[in-house]
Amino acid sequence: MVMQISVVRQKHLQQHENLVYLISEEDAVDLGRIDFEDDVDKAVQQTIKDGDFTGAKDTVFILKRDDMPKRLILSGLGAQAEAQEEHIRRAACNVVKKLQELKVTSMTVLAPEIHNVKGQEIVRAIIEGAILGDYEFSKYKTEKKTNIQSLTLIYTKQDHLERVVGEIKAICENVLAIRNLVNENSDAKTPEILAKLAVDMAKKTKLNVHVLDEKELRKLGMHLILAVSQGSRYPPKMIILEYNGNKKDKKRYALVGKGITFDSGGLNLKTGQSGIETMKMDMAGAATVLGVMKTLALLKVKRNVVGVIPCCENMISATATKPGAIIQSYAGKTVEIVNTDAEGRLVLADALAYTEKTFAPACIIDLATLTGAILRTFGEHVAGMMTTSPTYGAKLFAAGQRTYERVWELPLYKDYEDEMKSDFADVPNYGYLGRLAPYAGSIMGAIFLRYFVEKTPWIHVDIAGTAWAEKTRYYTYHGGTGFGVRLLMDFFEHL
Ligand code: BES
Ligand code: ZN
Ligand code: ZN
Repeated sequence: MVMQISVVRQKHLQQHENLVYLISEEDAVDLGRIDFEDDVDKAVQQTIKDGDFTGAKDTVFILKRDDMPKRLILSGLGAQAEAQEEHIRRAACNVVKKLQELKVTSMTVLAPEIHNVKGQEIVRAIIEGAILGDYEFSKYKTEKKTNIQSLTLIYTKQDHLERVVGEIKAICENVLAIRNLVNENSDAKTPEILAKLAVDMAKKTKLNVHVLDEKELRKLGMHLILAVSQGSRYPPKMIILEYNGNKKDKKRYALVGKGITFDSGGLNLKTGQSGIETMKMDMAGAATVLGVMKTLALLKVKRNVVGVIPCCENMISATATKPGAIIQSYAGKTVEIVNTDAEGRLVLADALAYTEKTFAPACIIDLATLTGAILRTFGEHVAGMMTTSPTYGAKLFAAGQRTYERVWELPLYKDYEDEMKSDFADVPNYGYLGRLAPYAGSIMGAIFLRYFVEKTPWIHVDIAGTAWAEKTRYYTYHGGTGFGVRLLMDFFEHL
């Protein structure tokens, strides 16, 4: 169910059934700061005077009335000085959750004034918190949550918001679609199914699509992808989506997404302890690239972007690649597959080299659930960024700060390369150092990838921690988070 969103300029509070005030602690002390209308303010004033609501963050207080509005909903923003976009998203999402419990399906939010956040950003954050918070992976559930069907924003300033509101809504809806895809059963999103999805998507939008099948991958020499895929009963696919939103601009950007539709580890089999049961999420990078490509086309963003998505399954079977195998990559370099569970970097190596050679992009960004080590570094809150381009790296960092889909840089010092040596091949897929667990696991993954990007500015984003959440936090839920869609849309907007 899609949420209807409208913005109105007149207050006419009596026309709204469920009226939401987002209130900071300072506002609660100095009620004059809030734009109340006479007939509702007394009730609110009394509630605050009684100390039932203080504006503290993560508090929601609902006042029932006989008249319209039927409910006054107070949601705390915390301290005004600290209040930022993220606090607004959370305050809006907290309301959504309360209303869902009450099976209420509409809400009206009075956009608050927050001195360090611009009006348009306040509106953006409210919509993001509401749509992203109104989510459940309900496909396989008998009893489903109630959804908010209509959100009205009261915004008395004169800015023209209609276009922006439409854009925010489209981005957030695509985040939810990507969450669904990541949460979906592995067997319902095989490489072939993902390729079909991309073809359908391209038909409906202004995207060109091309799918390389197993035969073509072999002809091109992408033996690393084939090696990862060879234990699976589903053939591999490489999906290529092209979006040309700006014919005058010569520059083109490339996104590459890891699309392992299930990562069993291969013969280096994963265990319950290493989280095998969540490994249907190992295509989250691919899902994000699909989501971004679609959203770029829907919003007619004025950039040229190509998305390259290597898809296959990493299975254990009699036909699976054996540890110790030496395989030639698309780039020509040979790889010793020391560990079959380090498969993401193998498929990405072929995809990155192919992307650079075929499209000569100005910058390549890859998104990959590459290492468990990034979870030990940043938990589920921040993605690891490793880059050869300080300029584009700084832009992605800034996009992360704005969207709260944060990235933090780890170094790619040359010293790490010395740890990545094989006596039998040009490079191993796994550095040996580390007794309990590999040392610098996330960096070593990136060091491997860097061998396969010759000269193009490149950013690797390790989303193993951020693409999947083990628990619900505000507007992200246990399961796929859709991480990266808002980040990259913001990146392309501000390039
Ligand atoms: N898909 C995993 C990484 C992963 C781990 C994603 C946990 C999400 C949650 C990746 O293919 C993998 O298995 N990496 C190995 C690399 C190691 C063998 C060098 C890892 O992190 O253990
Ligand atoms: Zn793996
Ligand atoms: Zn993997």
